[in-house]
Formats: sequence, C-alpha cells, structure tokens
Amino acid sequence: MNIENRTIFCHDNLDVLKGINSDCINLIYADPPFNKKKTFTAPVGSSAEGVSFSDIFREKDVKEEWLKDIEEDHYAIHELLSAVKDIEGKSSYNFCYLAYMAVRLMECHRILKDTGSMYLHCDSTMCHYLKLLLDCIFGEKNFMNEIVWCYRKWTNAAEYFQKNHDILLVYTKKYRKHFFEKLYNKNTPQQKKMERGYDVNVVQDGVKQLLVYDKEKAKEKIESGKYNRVVYRDGKSKVALQDWWEIPILNSQAKERLGYPTQKPLALLERIIRASSSEDDMVLDPFCGCATTCVAAERLKRKWIGIDVSVKAYELVKERLGKEVENRGTLFYEKLVRFNTDPPTRNDKDAYFTNKKYVYIISHPQYEGEYKVGIASDVKSRLGSYQTGDPDRSYKLEYSLHTPHFRAIENYIHKKYDNKREWVQGELKDIQRDIENYGISVKDSEVETI
Ligand SMILES: C[S@@+](CC[C@H](N)C(=O)[O-])C[C@H]1O[C@@H](n2cnc3c(N)ncnc32)[C@H](O)[C@@H]1O
Repeated sequence: MNIENRTIFCHDNLDVLKGINSDCINLIYADPPFNKKKTFTAPVGSSAEGVSFSDIFREKDVKEEWLKDIEEDHYAIHELLSAVKDIEGKSSYNFCYLAYMAVRLMECHRILKDTGSMYLHCDSTMCHYLKLLLDCIFGEKNFMNEIVWCYRKWTNAAEYFQKNHDILLVYTKKYRKHFFEKLYNKNTPQQKKMERGYDVNVVQDGVKQLLVYDKEKAKEKIESGKYNRVVYRDGKSKVALQDWWEIPILNSQAKERLGYPTQKPLALLERIIRASSSEDDMVLDPFCGCATTCVAAERLKRKWIGIDVSVKAYELVKERLGKEVENRGTLFYEKLVRFNTDPPTRNDKDAYFTNKKYVYIISHPQYEGEYKVGIASDVKSRLGSYQTGDPDRSYKLEYSLHTPHFRAIENYIHKKYDNKREWVQGELKDIQRDIENYGISVKDSEVETI
C-alpha cells in the first residue's frame, strides 16, 4: 500500500485514484454528485458556510482522454454510453455524468482487494444507469445488494409520492471471496416479543410462518399440523438485517450536523463499515465531503483515506477532525492526519503497465476458431471476462504507448477476417502474423502467452 493511514487528499479524485496501488483497499464507499442538475450550497451561518459543489455535467467537463480510455479498456461501457446518448437526444447530461463516473469507478475496481466491496451511494435519478455501468465494470455476477436507505423528510410533493429513500449499489470485487459480517436488527417489535418468550407470526416469501424459540415447543406445533410452516430459531432473538435500512437523515438539530450539503449520518457509515470490513482494514471514500466516512472508520478502528476536490470541504474536514480530537480527549488527529494536495504515485509492480497499451488476442474454448482482437491499457481487466481453463485461452501482444498503430491494427484485423460482432474468425497464427507484420518492429513489441 503506497498511502498511509489517515490521509486526506484535496484534489480531483481521478488523479488520486490513479496514483493508488492495485488491490490494496478493503472497502470503498462513494457518495458522488447524483446528477441533480443543480449546485449544492451550505446554509449561511453553518460551520460549512461557503461550501458548494456543482452537480451538473456538461460536454465541456468530459475529457477526450476519458472517452479514449473507456473505448480502449472497456468497450461495453463505450457502447453503453453511446446508447445513453441516443436515449437522451440533444441534451447530454446523463452521458457526461456517466463518462465522469465510469473512469473513476474503473479505478475503484482496480484498487479494491479481491475480498473487497464497493458501496455506491445514489438515488433514483441515475441508479438504473449506474447499475448498468457497475455491471460492466465489476461484472453482473459480483453484484451483492441494492440497499434502500429510507428516511423521513416532508416536502411539498403534490404530483408524486414523497421521495424518501436513497439507493446503495453494492458490488464485490469477487463474489463469495468477499468479506461480509452478518449484522442483526436491534430491538425490533418481533425481537422484543421473542425475548419475552412469545412465538411470532411472520410472512416470508408469501408463506405464513410461526417463529418459535423453544425446540420442544416447535416440535409440538409442527406435530399439531395447524401451521403452514413452523420455524425454530436459535440464537434467541436475532433477526438478520434486511436490505432496507431506516436511519434518520441529519435534522437541523442533529449534534453531528455541520451544515455540509449532503452530509450523511455517521450511523449509516458505521453500518456499512461494520458489515464490509474488519479492524485495521483500509476504507476509502473518494468523495468524502466533510469526512463522515473517515470519522466513522476511525471510531471503528479501521484505517482510512478520504478524497475531496473542494478546498472548503478540506478546511471543514480539518476543523471536524480537530473537534473529534477534543471530544475523544486525545491529540490523535492533530498529530496523525496527513493533509495532502498532491496526488500520489503508484509503486506497485503493475504501475509500469499504466504506460503501456496492448493489442490482445483472446481465444475462448467455446468458440473454436474465433478470437477477440482489441486494444487495452489494462489487459487483465479484459481477460477477466474471457478466462477459462483452456491453456491456449489468451495471447497478449504488447506495444509501447507511442506506437501510432493501435486503432489501425484493430480495424485492419476486423476488416480482414470474418467478423462476428467483436469476435473474428480465422487461424490464430495468421492473425498473429498479420499483427506482427503491421509496421511494428520487433524491437517495440513483445509476444507473450498469459
Ligand atoms: C454528495 S457529497 C459527499 C458528502 C459526504 N458523503 C459527507 O457525508 O459529507 C459529494 C462530494 O464530492 C465532491 N466531489 C465532486 N467531484 C469530485 C471529484 N472529481 N474529486 C473529488 N471530490 C469530488 C464534492 O466536493 C462533494 O463534497
């Protein structure tokens, strides 16, 4: 890991994420702008006065290099973005927002450990688009949960139902390898009843059930034949936490409230951190705002890194962490938090690959005689979706970054061979020879079997 615990970066998170080594973060919680097409400002008189951030994404904000990286490294996302552009017509806010999110989420995926998870906080504005994007980046099979965070907030909604929930899309880097601590509901009416020794009727998956907390009694009830289903629950009154969470938003009187626009409650972050990390694990928040995640992680004895581009947020974070010091009666934060305005530099073994582009040929045992030929800077991410047990499954041709022929080679191959969408049909050795002959000297290319 090339970043120390308790570091706050005040910088665009894309540069910072690009500078973090691969496979070293246990948990990422990201609470980005939601694409609400407005600017958020802190209330006058609050400790966050002066803070504002824009939640509008326009074409001028989308960098050419992002679109290039997306096209080269993640063709599926390129296609998704094109589809979004078609749906939107003239306005392109959603396209621009998704391009901005895609390049950042690609980095988040890279830096997560195999046991790690990512929670993306969003709402109904973009959650369905973001789910598709995350499916492209993390793989559909690594989706863990859609958590609905419900709260009470009264607005003057006259034409629609009150919008009182946010969504957390949760993906694991590798499903079933991921860390997960099962959490339980506390003090539900059901739990209280059970504690007093009562049986409880519930309906689960449409089936009426009787929960019985005494083995002998459960047997009796089953034998009586009067119930659809009798379930004996051990562990006294524990009820596993469901995927909708009722946690109050910060009201104007809340002690922890700083007035930072969109500040999230500590209770929400504590729950996420407890479920998806253990002590000493590294937690990262790339849109940390007033550092709620960092404070929650510190309280739960996790390591943490926070990133926010806003200088005002940065100042507020310094103040918040200072207060935390006073409340906890230690000099802890003052001495140990690192405040950084420059992005880090990677020093892991794969850092070298960031300056390389590849032309790759991938084979798949199910499609004999067909090969996928393309360009990528992160060939591993492309291979992930095609790898199988076949020892001949993939070949990588590597060329240095400044070779001007990437696109041309790809187009040439796709034109020359029978093309079935992204897959071409032909003899592997012919394709390989064609690539090698395509004006690239042996000096700046390497052929390698992965
Ligand atoms: C929804 S707020 C996060 C609030 C935070 N969860 C909290 O509890 O305070 C989004 C934050 O993302 C930050 N932000 C927006 N674009 C960013 C970027 N490219 N890099 C880093 N931070 C960014 C904004 O300054 C804002 O503080």
